[in-house]
Amino acid sequence: VDTWLVDGQFAETIPITDRGFVYGDGIFETIAFRRGKPRFLELHLERLAEGCARLAIRMPAEQRLRAELRMAAADHAHGTAKLIVTRGSGPRGYAPPTAPEPRRVVAFFPSDAATSAGPAAVRICRTVLSINPALAGLKTLGRLDHVLARAEWRDPDIAEGLMRDPAGRVVCGTMSNVFAVRHGRLVTPELSGCGIRGVMRRVVIGQARQLGMEVSETQLSLQDIRQAEELFLTNALIGIWPVASCDGQPYALGPFTTALREALVAIGVDECRP
Ligand SMILES: Cc1ncc(COP(=O)(O)O)c(C=O)c1O
Repeated sequence: VDTWLVDGQFAETIPITDRGFVYGDGIFETIAFRRGKPRFLELHLERLAEGCARLAIRMPAEQRLRAELRMAAADHAHGTAKLIVTRGSGPRGYAPPTAPEPRRVVAFFPSDAATSAGPAAVRICRTVLSINPALAGLKTLGRLDHVLARAEWRDPDIAEGLMRDPAGRVVCGTMSNVFAVRHGRLVTPELSGCGIRGVMRRVVIGQARQLGMEVSETQLSLQDIRQAEELFLTNALIGIWPVASCDGQPYALGPFTTALREALVAIGVDECRP
């Protein structure tokens, strides 16, 4: 069963005055829990700390979060953990309280051992992303762009949708980052205006450089996506997710994707086993 801790106590409710609920005033992390441990926890805590710093929310003590993760996971080997930190409760109005008490929620959703997600059929979404450099890169609450985009399709054979910014550049999937191989080089959208700087994106960029691949963060047009030699998505729960087709156009499973998936398996991303 799912387990929830609110400020360290087993509970499934928060006060209705919580600014995370009222304004989406907070951030979260979604973490793969494998073989009894939260995978890449340091990277998740680093992004959480960066988010807290940029939003001026006091970061909960890391030791506390680690202990609460262990408590929520109990003796499960596999699952998904979620951390939410909000600015806490406040009076009506946008103005942040002068001395807010941040609220933390730690949740655990048990699952079976990781299985690999097969190559994905994806589509291009109509819903565009909101631009805001102050929030770009962070995993903030209030993800309505993504909710609207994900509501565009119900076909269970479509696994993910790609999203564009208002200028038409491809930035991410509804729940993933995107990588393409173009002219023999690995590229991924730069995220200075919108998008989430994914933990798996960071891991993949690091592994690619270790393998001697050239990687650049750049702007990607729809044409770049259409003409890509390889296309894959990443997130913390799936690792590297090859794209089999986009709006019906097929993509081959190429050498960059295969080599990176092997590299991820070697560092514990079992979902990338062929
Ligand atoms: C919009 C969006 N971008 C990127 C990601 C990937 O981030 P991570 O690798 O940290 O899971 C997610 C994850 O859910 C997401 O929702």
